[in-house]
Amino acid sequence: ANSALEQARTLLQAAKRVAVITGAGISAESGIPTFRDAQTGHWARFRPEDLASPEAYQQDPETVWDWYAGRYRDVMAAQPNAGHMALAELERRKSSHPDGFLLATQNVDGLHQRAGSRQLVELHGNLTHARCETCQHLAALPAPETFEPPPICLKCGSRMRPNVVWFSEWLPPEALARAEKAFEAADVALVIGTSSLVQPAAGLALLTLENGGSIIEINPDVTPLSEWASVVLRLKASQALPALLEG
Ligand code: NAD
Ligand code: APR
Ligand code: ZN
Repeated sequence: ANSALEQARTLLQAAKRVAVITGAGISAESGIPTFRDAQTGHWARFRPEDLASPEAYQQDPETVWDWYAGRYRDVMAAQPNAGHMALAELERRKSSHPDGFLLATQNVDGLHQRAGSRQLVELHGNLTHARCETCQHLAALPAPETFEPPPICLKCGSRMRPNVVWFSEWLPPEALARAEKAFEAADVALVIGTSSLVQPAAGLALLTLENGGSIIEINPDVTPLSEWASVVLRLKASQALPALLEG
């Protein structure tokens, strides 16, 4: 029988349209801790509602900004890894078909852009930008060395908030709609480095399944999505993705 890797390779090569969803796991090997890893995960040290919620920010914006400024420095010091690079290569291979490829990420670290991904939606925003609380103006943060939070809006002088989606907040509707459309049309949904615990991101791959497509999951651990996957690669993203593109 074909190995899981060969099965996944065959499915991926035959696919005209590929939709990808990534989570913190793909950036773990770039040195950025995941959320739910018991030892190093962010939520092991902090309670999410204490830092990543509108209430926390209203209550104590300085603490929330200090935490995000720290994560901003981490992500700017990190480099995309072989997994990020392989996804940028996969996009190039599938771009001969008009809507042949879309990458939706829950990550806010900006590593997919730096790896060269272009057909990309950021479902939870991006740590490298801030958004004005009053006029919604979006601005890139200054270099980490010179960044002193909170950033002030150059358009209206108000305080700016981290440009990320917090617990109990809604995802940017246009990003979510674009992702849903891609997963509905996809022949293959590639689910990488996410615990698939948080909606609505966790539900995207099921749209592919509902429309007759297949799911490939890349994750060293089991997730609630694993039972729906045609192929599961119990591997790290930086090992599985380059191997998927070989041959
Ligand atoms: P949640 O399920 O509590 O909040 C989202 C809820 O609202 C879900 O029920 C979801 O179905 C619904 N929802 C959100 N946006 C929607 C939309 N556009 N259309 C339809 N339904 C929508 O999830 P959560 O764990 O509270 O977190 C909310 C979001 O914030 C999640 O996506 C989470 O991943 C994100 N988040 C980001 C960070 C970060 O630092 N980047 C930290 C924490 C949470
Ligand atoms: N390669 C692939 N997967 C990995 C790797 C790796 N090297 N290392 C860890 N993983 C897997 C873990 O097994 C886990 O299933 O990545 C997943 C990380 O899950 P989480 O820490 O829950 O991160 P994520 O799924 O992105 O969380 C979703 O919840 O807290 C919110 O907004 C936050 O976007 C986040 C969302
Ligand atoms: Zn403003």
